[in-house]
Amino acid sequence: MAITTYNQISVPSFMYGTAWKKEATARLVQLAVESGFTAIDTANQLIHYQEALVGEALQSLAAKGIQREALFLQTKFTSVDGQDHRTPYDPAADLTTQVEQSFASSLQHLHTDYLDSYVLHAPFSRRGLGAADWQVWAAMEAFYEAGKTKTIGISNISAAQLTLLCQQARVKPMMVQNRCFAVTAWDQQVREICREQGIIYQGFSLLTANRDVIAAPEIHAIAAREGVGPAQVIFRFALQVGMLPLTGTTDPQHMSEDLAAARITLSADEVERIETLAL
Ligand SMILES: NC(=O)c1ccc[n+]([C@@H]2O[C@H](COP(=O)([O-])OP(=O)(O)OC[C@H]3O[C@@H](n4cnc5c(N)ncnc54)[C@H](OP(=O)(O)O)[C@@H]3O)[C@@H](O)[C@H]2O)c1
Repeated sequence: MAITTYNQISVPSFMYGTAWKKEATARLVQLAVESGFTAIDTANQLIHYQEALVGEALQSLAAKGIQREALFLQTKFTSVDGQDHRTPYDPAADLTTQVEQSFASSLQHLHTDYLDSYVLHAPFSRRGLGAADWQVWAAMEAFYEAGKTKTIGISNISAAQLTLLCQQARVKPMMVQNRCFAVTAWDQQVREICREQGIIYQGFSLLTANRDVIAAPEIHAIAAREGVGPAQVIFRFALQVGMLPLTGTTDPQHMSEDLAAARITLSADEVERIETLAL
């Protein structure tokens, strides 16, 4: 299954996330693709991600006949605040240069000459958007306009910031990637803006951020009826409300199960109940 961005790029409906996989990254990315994932999320940020090992997996997959074009690759620019001493750019350079160096290094790590999605890991400003945010966004718009990435996006963004970005950017984001907490009605405000603007909403930590909801009897009752696990009910809910979920599983069986969530169906009442389960 695929969804389409407002600039007509086809995006797989489920994404495999590579954070915290450390030296297992290459093996797990290969397993994920062999299990059926065609979209991979990473970041040029060594604290949490091994982007170069994602690239190593891509080379092994290419040797087995799975070509670059068959995969959707997403990576991120992470500012100095989100990095340790191993910045993939000169931290003393101006921000435009930092983004350019980080982007070039991502292409090198991933053995590709284009990205499918390039994401700003987080705004610099806690509230609103400041000069640094606009400078980085302009550099990302330039990659998009030069055809170096098919889409651009932003992560860890509030509803107010996203509204501003959509109003004032030359190119508004095609992607938003946020941690999705059930206690905020699954990031309802941001999802609503995404729906209005035709932006794809990617939800991460759907399982790890919502342990109480996953343990709820309502979720277990649906899981028992469908003969699946509670994780699949959550992923199915995400798909049914129009999100693009990420999974960070390290287990091949869970990889297949997570993808199989697309095969169950929740009633409209069940979707509504899950939307408000933690409110
Ligand atoms: N933009 C950002 O700032 C940001 C921040 C955090 C994460 N992310 C992205 O989002 C991705 C996913 O994040 P996450 O790891 O927190 O996601 P997650 O999928 O909510 O959590 C992964 C956990 O869920 C378990 N799990 C997955 N499928 C399962 C299943 N079918 N049954 C039981 N347990 C299951 C995994 O255990 P097993 O390994 O045992 O399956 C693992 O412990 C990351 O890898 C990263 O790409 C982005």
